[in-house]
Amino acid sequence: MKQQFNFEFDYLEDISQLDEQDASLLRAAMKATQTAFAPYSNFKVGAAALLSNGQIIIGSNQESASYPVGICAERTLLNSIGSQFPNETIISMAISYDSSKTACNEPISPCGMCRQSLLDFENRYHAAIKIILAGKTGPVMVVKSAKDLLPFGFDGSVLK
Ligand code: THU
Repeated sequence: MKQQFNFEFDYLEDISQLDEQDASLLRAAMKATQTAFAPYSNFKVGAAALLSNGQIIIGSNQESASYPVGICAERTLLNSIGSQFPNETIISMAISYDSSKTACNEPISPCGMCRQSLLDFENRYHAAIKIILAGKTGPVMVVKSAKDLLPFGFDGSVLK
C-alpha cells in the first residue's frame, strides 16, 4: 500500500505579505543575524521566537574553532528558551540569514538537527510552533508546525 505525506505552507512574495506580528518577529530574526559568531562559514543565522507571555527572544549561530562544536541559531534559541522560560510555550519562530557569499534572497531551510529540536519542543509543550523562513529579501515561507518539516520524526514515545 502506497502512502503519501503532504503538507501545506504559505509561500509569500516578501515580508510585506505577513501580518504585523509575524513581520516584526521576522525583523527581529534579521536583526539577530548580527549577533551571530560565524567567522568560519560567514553564514550568519538569526532566529526569533514569540513566547506565550508576549516576549520575543532571539538566538544566533555560535561557531567553534572545533567546527562540530558550533551550534545553529535555532538550537541556541530553543535551549535558551527552555532554560530561561521553561513555563512558556513558543507560538512562532522566524529564521533568517546574512552572508557576504550569497544573495540571501531565498528562504532559509533549517538543518535536520534543528528540525528535531523544534519537534521536541512541540511535543514537550503539546503546542505547534509556526515557523517563518526567509532570507534578507525575497520570498517568505510560513509552515504551520515543525512536524511538517520532519516526517517520521522521532518523538521519544518509545523511550517510556
Ligand atoms: N546554521 C544555522 O544556524 N541554522 C540553519 O538553519 C542552517 C545552518 C549555521 C550553522 C553554521 O554556523 C552555519 O550556519 C553554516 O552552516
